[in-house]
Amino acid sequence: MKTVFSGIQPSGSVHLGNILGALVNWRRMQEKYKCYYCIVDLHSLTTFPDKDLLEKDKIDTIKSLIAVGIDPNESIIYFQSNLHHHAELSWILSNFCQIGELQRMTQYKDKSESFGTHAGLFTYPVLMAADILIHKADEVPVGDDQTQHLELTRDIAMRFNQKYEDIFPIPARNSTKTGARVMSLRHPESKMSKSSDDVAGTIYITDDDKEIIKKIKTSVTDSESKISFNKEEKPGLSNLIEILASITGKSIKETVKEVSGMQYGDFKMYVAENLITFMSPIRDKYLSLTDKKILEISDEGRDKATITADKTLLEVKNCLGI
Ligand code: TYM
Repeated sequence: MKTVFSGIQPSGSVHLGNILGALVNWRRMQEKYKCYYCIVDLHSLTTFPDKDLLEKDKIDTIKSLIAVGIDPNESIIYFQSNLHHHAELSWILSNFCQIGELQRMTQYKDKSESFGTHAGLFTYPVLMAADILIHKADEVPVGDDQTQHLELTRDIAMRFNQKYEDIFPIPARNSTKTGARVMSLRHPESKMSKSSDDVAGTIYITDDDKEIIKKIKTSVTDSESKISFNKEEKPGLSNLIEILASITGKSIKETVKEVSGMQYGDFKMYVAENLITFMSPIRDKYLSLTDKKILEISDEGRDKATITADKTLLEVKNCLGI
């Protein structure tokens, strides 16, 4: 059976971009593969989170995974900092990565503008490579923004295999057809994001029906009145079309055909109604989960994840002679 690994940062509320770009795929993949889903709290330290907030966000992120349908009986869900293996393998792998490669990472360039050029942010992609390789993942379901990081992981794995022994599978990216890059409703030139201050442009897992309607109604479109899909010329409208296609499971073409005669106002209301149908069961499930239950799930996940991580780390150390 193939192995799947993916991670999510516990840095604020999970949003529609995370759900459509990654989590729906995580849910789908658990039926066929051995899946590891990790709450990457070590990565979150790169943005200096408040201690109490981080503790809460860690729990809430697991709640979100379960609310979307990730089943802890099928998938292994755990906190990254509970396994020392990630940080240890990251150090080893940093020897297989060039400074120039890390300098070219667009997320490093973006984030260092807000958080400074510290080494944690710089070596962030190496820790990501360690996350993926510690369980020898074959596939990694992620949104578009992680493509560059995954490419680097593949290069690191190939270099290790060539220099020592061929022990790592070369992981492939797995992405959703639509929704791999959900944009902000207010600034459709930027992606919907957890860490931005763009509350009005972001649909959070906790948003109630009224908030969803308000955010969709006030989303930025354009001054024309004809509905068509064109990301360059109509980024706002195209984003709404893509969101609609993604939640209904239809193609962009089918979706455009379905809504083409509508006025913008009616179209927005239609998107909001569909979004409420999609999000409200997720929100209800999220709100029903207790912190105690989540801690039980993460303890169990830690124990299961430790078994494979122990094996890989030992194998790597044997290859290296340490
Ligand atoms: P993070 O926490 O930013 O996001 C989690 C997942 O959600 C996807 N995503 C989006 N997809 C579509 N549209 C958006 N607007 C959007 N925003 C976020 C991300 O692509 C991601 O799949 N570095 C990673 C976490 C990580 C990881 C890993 C992922 C650490 N180690 C190993 C995969 C494998 C991150 O910050 O994701």
